[in-house]
Amino acid sequence: MPALRIDGYVIVSADGMLADAGGMMPVELKFEGDKRFFTAALDSADLIVHGRNSYEDQPNSPGRKRIILTRSVGALAPDPANPRATLWNPAGASFDAAIERAGVRAGTIAVIGGPDVFEMFMDRYDTFWLSLAPQVKLPGGQPCFPGVPARSPQEVLAAHGLNAGEARILDADYGVSVTPWRRVAQTSP
Ligand SMILES: NC(=O)c1ccc[n+]([C@@H]2O[C@H](COP(=O)([O-])OP(=O)(O)OC[C@H]3O[C@@H](n4cnc5c(N)ncnc54)[C@H](OP(=O)(O)O)[C@@H]3O)[C@@H](O)[C@H]2O)c1
Repeated sequence: MPALRIDGYVIVSADGMLADAGGMMPVELKFEGDKRFFTAALDSADLIVHGRNSYEDQPNSPGRKRIILTRSVGALAPDPANPRATLWNPAGASFDAAIERAGVRAGTIAVIGGPDVFEMFMDRYDTFWLSLAPQVKLPGGQPCFPGVPARSPQEVLAAHGLNAGEARILDADYGVSVTPWRRVAQTSP
């Protein structure tokens, strides 16, 4: 069977939020270094998966194949607004059926949010790329994963079998970094 990998991407505030109290991603969470990292990652992905409100809005976005989660369809449907997008309701169709419809059988799938969509793939990520803006706090904001802030985003990833690799600095002035959280290889007993 051809190899398929699933990677996740998010940038969070020090208190684990991906959006502000109004449910929007604020300018405080936008950094050029992270934008470059995220753009390059999506340029090399074969398929983007996200909820209806998490479109990445980059210059190359129109050319990317994507699956958009929505309950406005029963199962799978073409997106009338985007010929490269497939609308998917997981209540009516499996993920395998969705990627089949999108025409992707191998390569890299990038999952880019929001929180419920991240959660759906928590046990399937090969690597989750967690960007952190340690100087930003978003009180009352939208937690990046269900279970945050009772647990930190890092604790949630670790609880799903992911291990932190070496962090890479994306913006030295603001201490913004990205850490790859990789699935621990299963060894046979
Ligand atoms: N900081 C970051 O890196 C980052 C990353 C991602 C998102 N964000 C921000 O976070 C906010 C988005 O949050 P959001 O909670 O609105 O998330 P979202 O997942 O983008 O959008 C939610 C919508 O997606 C659909 N959906 C989600 N889960 C579904 C499921 N299991 N089955 C069917 N449909 C499903 C539903 O669409 P319908 O209403 O059409 O049914 C739902 O209303 C935005 O401001 C975005 O910019 C930030």
